[in-house]
Amino acid sequence: MMSRLLVKKAPLWGLFCVLFFLSPFLSAGTPSAAAIATAHPLATEAGHEILKRGGNAFDAAVAVSAVLAVVEPYSSGLGGGGFWLLHRASDGFETMVDGREKAPMAAHRDLYLDKKGEVIPGLSINGPLAAGIPGEPAALAHISERYGRLPLNDVLAPAIIIAETGFPVDSHYLRMATWRLETLQAWKDASAIFLHQGGLPAEGAAIRQPELAETLKQLAVKGADGFYRGDLAKRLVDGVREAGGIWTLEDLADYRVIERAPVKGSFMGLKITSASPPSSGGIALITMLNILQGFNLPSLEQPQRTHVIVEAMRRAYRDRADYLGDPDFVDIPVEALTHPWYAAGLARDIQMDSASRSVGNVSHETGRDTTHFSILDREGNRVAATLSINYPFGSGFVVPGTGVLLNDEMDDFSASPGVPNVYGLVGAEANAIAGGKRMLSSMSPTFVEDEQQLAVLGTPGGSRIITMVLLGILEMAEGNGPKQWVSRPRFHHQYLPDQIQFEPDAFSESQRKQLKNMGHRLKPLKHPYGNMQAVYWNKKTGQVDAASDPRGLGLAKIE
Ligand code: GLY
Repeated sequence: MMSRLLVKKAPLWGLFCVLFFLSPFLSAGTPSAAAIATAHPLATEAGHEILKRGGNAFDAAVAVSAVLAVVEPYSSGLGGGGFWLLHRASDGFETMVDGREKAPMAAHRDLYLDKKGEVIPGLSINGPLAAGIPGEPAALAHISERYGRLPLNDVLAPAIIIAETGFPVDSHYLRMATWRLETLQAWKDASAIFLHQGGLPAEGAAIRQPELAETLKQLAVKGADGFYRGDLAKRLVDGVREAGGIWTLEDLADYRVIERAPVKGSFMGLKITSASPPSSGGIALITMLNILQGFNLPSLEQPQRTHVIVEAMRRAYRDRADYLGDPDFVDIPVEALTHPWYAAGLARDIQMDSASRSVGNVSHETGRDTTHFSILDREGNRVAATLSINYPFGSGFVVPGTGVLLNDEMDDFSASPGVPNVYGLVGAEANAIAGGKRMLSSMSPTFVEDEQQLAVLGTPGGSRIITMVLLGILEMAEGNGPKQWVSRPRFHHQYLPDQIQFEPDAFSESQRKQLKNMGHRLKPLKHPYGNMQAVYWNKKTGQVDAASDPRGLGLAKIE
């Protein structure tokens, strides 16, 4: 009898044993709370509100994106695009929703060149000719329909209310508006919405966007068709063309969101999941981490440590310029570029006592645009999203009657091989302009994870995005928490210009001297940069943490 019982129970008992031994590698329960970190308190609050109403992380991501589109007109919006990295807890499914802008079909490689073949300054940055076909409205509808739980109408409600009632101007808004004042003044609708009698609004003044609220309502009721077809589409195309742009109704009707497999790699036992092309973020990040894996970073003293990290940055950005572009137009050797053996080859000529040289000459530097948010819900669903209209306030052009401020993402193409864009980034054939093509990006929404812990992180900052995320991951690998990832002093190298750009507190006097002695060119920056938003989950204890970059005015909230 006993033996029969044992025989009957054996499969169950075996299963129990297998589960017990596998348990550290399986999902270790759920987070004790939800966490949201965004660049604006109103967006963070809206995300939590949607979670409380029964939405999941994906609903919250749509709500947060839409609120940011209203309250951070200088960073992202319906006239822009972005990348939403999703992880679904129920089955571990991961995807990157590519809502990147596309070049209108009439665009061509010489669009921004004069008769002599020289780049016409400003043409790819200001006004409607600078604008790609927006991807954000399609992405929001797609994420809501495919992954959300609540109707799009409910999820967009917070953004619609804020667009109607207004949000208060803060110091960051004023900095960005000051930066782009001339461009905003040049376009009547932009000036009427974002300025006050053609000048800067007062701090605390309300910015109301009733036309944007109407546009959001079209999206809420009709989904993507509300934006890309019908009356609104016609108004967008007419407005763009009257002001000198080249959009057509077909450009809008043909826009499609693409789901792409994220880029994956590992570093010191941590699994890295990040943005795939047309973002350069994931590939460059994994190349740098692979290179650094060959050095025992914690054992290195300063400034060798900084030196090695800089050399890894230099090599990854060189490849960025040479190989990366829209994967639907160019073959990108993703597997090779992210392979540890390839990185080992790149690392071979790193000298421990002297800087390598970059070949070429570029003198730009900047990095102020874009926005990022990170979300974890109580089920373990997560979203890392980086969204952009490129330069602060994008192209500065609002399409009359729509409230839609257009991007100037066309500048992320390489207007002419070897000629830098506003971030000083050079590109080659892979990122040349072509009708229907997506421009190369640096946006790097990222998950970092092992059996014990999970991080969801990312940041705005133009070409410096990728190196900021790198430095955040290195902090995490050393066992530090999200407050350190977002606040640590930053430095950056992007191959060209051949210089280390760094924040005011990044290096001591003696470190600067030693780096110079190694042959590095130093470019101290006057201001801090970046606005990282991060969420952390300790899978063992269930404890959740979150942090918003102290350089910005964002809010990280656990609830
Ligand atoms: N517009 C900034 C980026 O996509 O990298």
